[in-house]
Amino acid sequence: MTHEQVQRPPAEVRYAAELAELAAGDTAQRPPGWALSLRAARTFIVGDGAGITRKFVGDIALIERALVTLATGRGLMLIGDPGTAKSLLSELISAAVSGASTLTVQGSAATTEDQIRYGWNYALLLSEGPSEASLVPAPLLTAMREGRLVRFEEITRCAPRCRTRCCPCCPIGFSPCPSSARPDSSSPVPAST
Ligand SMILES: Nc1ncnc2c1ncn2[C@@H]1O[C@H](COP(=O)(O)OP(=O)(O)O)[C@@H](O)[C@H]1O
Ligand SMILES: [Mg+2]
Repeated sequence: MTHEQVQRPPAEVRYAAELAELAAGDTAQRPPGWALSLRAARTFIVGDGAGITRKFVGDIALIERALVTLATGRGLMLIGDPGTAKSLLSELISAAVSGASTLTVQGSAATTEDQIRYGWNYALLLSEGPSEASLVPAPLLTAMREGRLVRFEEITRCAPRCRTRCCPCCPIGFSPCPSSARPDSSSPVPAST
């Protein structure tokens, strides 16, 4: 299937030229495993007024906080009303940081741990016992193996047990998207990316 036939190519494909331009001129230090420095990743998302387009409209400090959270080894949870660019932002950040935004779990009430972390090839499991070869990787394991970001859409729709068992590996920083900031809300229900 060519890119022209794909309904909506991922950010790393849509903005491949911009990512290449930023990487070529990126002399700043990069956090371990990052494809771009913090400064270049920020520019990718908010633009530079020249060749790099502005993709997120809103408070730039939010982008900076999100990037610093990830650069310091924490997970990032974006909470906010529908349509406030949580998914867009996570896609752009993944494209900038890992060069790929397609390692994605789509959370729902029916999402199982196997679909998040890994499952087993039961024929191999029975014949060989638990081994690397009998694992069937899901996005979280692939991301951990390759040192890439994994996106978890609608994490709050998953069963609590599934959430806590599958995502205990990193502390999470919370970033409210602008329109979700409710001064009177002491315990907002997070709607994650
Ligand atoms: N602040 C914003 N900057 C740029 N585009 C936005 C913004 N807010 C919403 N959009 C547009 O709305 C679309 C839907 O947003 P989305 O990321 O799916 O929202 P959410 O995941 O928060 O429900 C985005 O793909 C984008 O085109
Ligand atoms: Mg979303």
